[in-house]
Amino acid sequence: MRVIIRENADGASQYAAQYIIKRINAFAPTPEKPFVLGLPTGSSPEFIYKYLVQGYKAGEISFANVVTFNMDEYVGLPEEHPESYHSFMYKHFFAHIDINPANVHILNGNAPDLAAECANYEQQIAQAGGIDLFLGGIGPDGHIAFNEPGSSLRSRTRVKTLAEDTIRANSRFFGGDLSQVPKQALTVGVQTVMDAREVLLIVLGANKALALAKTIEGSVSQMWTASALQTHEHATIVCDDAATDEM
Ligand code: GLP
Repeated sequence: MRVIIRENADGASQYAAQYIIKRINAFAPTPEKPFVLGLPTGSSPEFIYKYLVQGYKAGEISFANVVTFNMDEYVGLPEEHPESYHSFMYKHFFAHIDINPANVHILNGNAPDLAAECANYEQQIAQAGGIDLFLGGIGPDGHIAFNEPGSSLRSRTRVKTLAEDTIRANSRFFGGDLSQVPKQALTVGVQTVMDAREVLLIVLGANKALALAKTIEGSVSQMWTASALQTHEHATIVCDDAATDEM
C-alpha cells in the first residue's frame, strides 16, 4: 500500500485527478477496450471531479471510452432527489464531460427487486472485464463504499443497513435532520473493491484521522473495512496532512 501525503485537500485532490488522467491515457481506451473506472460520492472526491472536469476542458483527457461503476446508492431515495448519488454524480462530473450515458452504471436504490439489482450489478462489472481503477473514500468509521463495520471482507454488492454513525455523519447533507437520511443503501462489497486491478483512496480531514490510522496501521479487520486494502496488490491512499494526525 502506498501512502501519498499532501499539505491540504486541494493538493491531494489534484494529485489524485492527475493520477487518474495518467492511468486512463496510458491505457489508451477504445470502444472495444474501454477503461473501467469505479467511482465514489461524498465531499472528499468533489475536488477530484472538479480537476477531472478541468482536465477534460483543457483537452488533457477524454472519457468517451471510459465505463463507470459507482460504489453505492441510497435505498428508496428518488433518483432526482438532490442528495441521491445519481444527482451527485451528474452534478459534479457526468454533466460536464464527454462520457456516453450508456457507459454510466449506478445502482438503482428503487429497483423492485434489490437483491436482483445487486446480483445484476456484479454481472455487469464482470461483463465489462472487471474494474481497472476503483477510486474510493472512507467514512469516519473506516467504511469503504457503504461497507459498515462488521461487513464481511469477502462481501459483494448487496443491501446494507447504515450504521448510526454514518446516518449522523451524512445528515449534514439532509439539513442535519437524521430522520431524512435513508437507513439503507445498495453498496458494492469489500471483495468487489478488492477485485479491482487498482484502488485509489482519497482521505481528507482530521475527522478521518482515526479511520486512516486503522486502515493503514491497524490489523486487517472487518471492523474497519478499508483495512482490507492492506492486502491489495496495488492500492494507493492519497490524504492531506490533517488526516494523518493519529499516525
Ligand atoms: C458515504 C459514502 C462513502 C464515502 C463516505 C465519506 O458514506 N457511502 O463512499 O466514502 O460517505 O464521505 P465524505 O467524503 O463526505 O466524508
